[in-house]
Amino acid sequence: MSKKPVRVAVTGAAGQIGYALLFRIASGEMLGKDQPVILQLLEIPDEKAQKALKGVMMELEDCAFPLLAGMEAHSDPMTAFKDTDYALLVGSRPRGPGMERAELLAVNGAIFIAQGKALNAVASRNVKVLVVGNPANTNAWIAMKSAPDLPRKNFTAMLRLDHNRALSQIAAKTGKPVSSIEKLCVWGNHSPTMYADYRFATIEGQSVKEMINDETWNREVFLPTVGKRGAAIIEARGLSSAASAANAAIDHMRDWALGSNGRWVTMGIPSDGWYDIPKDTMFGFPVVCEGGEYKVVEGLPMDDFSRERIAITLKELLDEQAAVKHLV
Ligand code: NAD
Ligand code: LMR
Repeated sequence: MSKKPVRVAVTGAAGQIGYALLFRIASGEMLGKDQPVILQLLEIPDEKAQKALKGVMMELEDCAFPLLAGMEAHSDPMTAFKDTDYALLVGSRPRGPGMERAELLAVNGAIFIAQGKALNAVASRNVKVLVVGNPANTNAWIAMKSAPDLPRKNFTAMLRLDHNRALSQIAAKTGKPVSSIEKLCVWGNHSPTMYADYRFATIEGQSVKEMINDETWNREVFLPTVGKRGAAIIEARGLSSAASAANAAIDHMRDWALGSNGRWVTMGIPSDGWYDIPKDTMFGFPVVCEGGEYKVVEGLPMDDFSRERIAITLKELLDEQAAVKHLV
C-alpha cells in the first residue's frame, strides 16, 4: 500500500537554492523513494517573485515525478505552513562579497519572527524545521522563540554544509573516500568561527588525527578552509553557494527523518546544556539520528584548543542572540 503524502513547505522557493532543492525533494531524495510529497511553496508577494515561482512549478510539473502528490504557491506563511510536516526555511537575503553572515541579521531576522509565529499557529505539532537562511543559527533561534507552542527540538539550523565541506577536505588530505570517514563533527555557529573537529574521526577504524598527524595543517589550513569556504565560493561565483547548500539541506532532513544509520552528522540544534552550552543556544553538535529523532553524542573529551574554539563560536552566537533579543 502506498504511503500517505506528507506536506513539505519550502520558503524562497524561486531563489537559487530553491531551484536546486525542489526537484530533489519531489524525486524522493529527501524523504525516500516511497514517500509522496505535497510541496507548499512560499515566496514574497512581489509579482516578479510569484511569476518566477509559477515558472519553477511548471518545470516541476514537466518532470512528472511520481511522488509529487500536490503543489501549492503561497505568498503568506500562514497558508504556506498549514499542517506542514517539514519546513525548509530558505527564503531570505544572501550575503555579497566582503560581508559576514551576521550582517544579514538586520534584514533577515524579522522574516523568522513572522515565520516562527505562523509555524506555531498552523503547522503540524511534529513539524521538523530546518533554517537555511543566514545567519542560520540565530534565525533558527528566532523562529523557535517565536513558536512557543511547538517543541524546541523541532527547530534546527543547517551546519551540514560545513560538515560536508570538512569531510571533503579530509578525504583530499588522506586520499581516502569521503564515505569511509566517520565521527567527524562541527561545533557552533555557521560562520568562520565554527570548529570543525576531526579528533574523534576514523577511517576504516584508524584515527584520522594520527593519519594526518599535522596540527599546523589543522589550524592553518583545514579550519580556515572549511570556515571561510562560503566566502571563497561567493568570491569565485559572484553568488553564494546554492547546489551544495541544497544538497546539505537534503542530507540534513533525510538523516533526521530516516536515520543516519549510526553515523555521526552535524546539526544545529537548541542546546539542552550539553558540553556547557547554555540551554536553547542554537549550536552545532555531533548527533546520531534514529526513528525521526536526533540524539547528541555526549561525553566527548575536550582539550584546551577545543575549549578555546568552542568558547569563541559560543560567544559569537550569544552576541548575535543578544542583538535580536528585543525582537522575540
Ligand atoms: P536567493 O536570493 O537566490 O533566493 C532567496 C529567495 O527568497 C528569493 O526568491 C526571495 O524572493 C525569497 N524570499 C525573501 N524573503 C522571503 C520571505 N520572507 N518569505 C519567502 N521567501 C522570501 O538566495 P539563495 O542563494 O537561495 O539563499 C537563500 C539564503 O540561504 C541566504 O540567506 C543564504 O545566505 C543562505 N544560505 C545558507 C547556507 C547554510 O549553509 N546555512 C548555505 C547557502 C546559503
Ligand atoms: C555558505 O556557507 O556557503 C552560505 O552560508 C552562504 C554564505 O554566505 O557563505
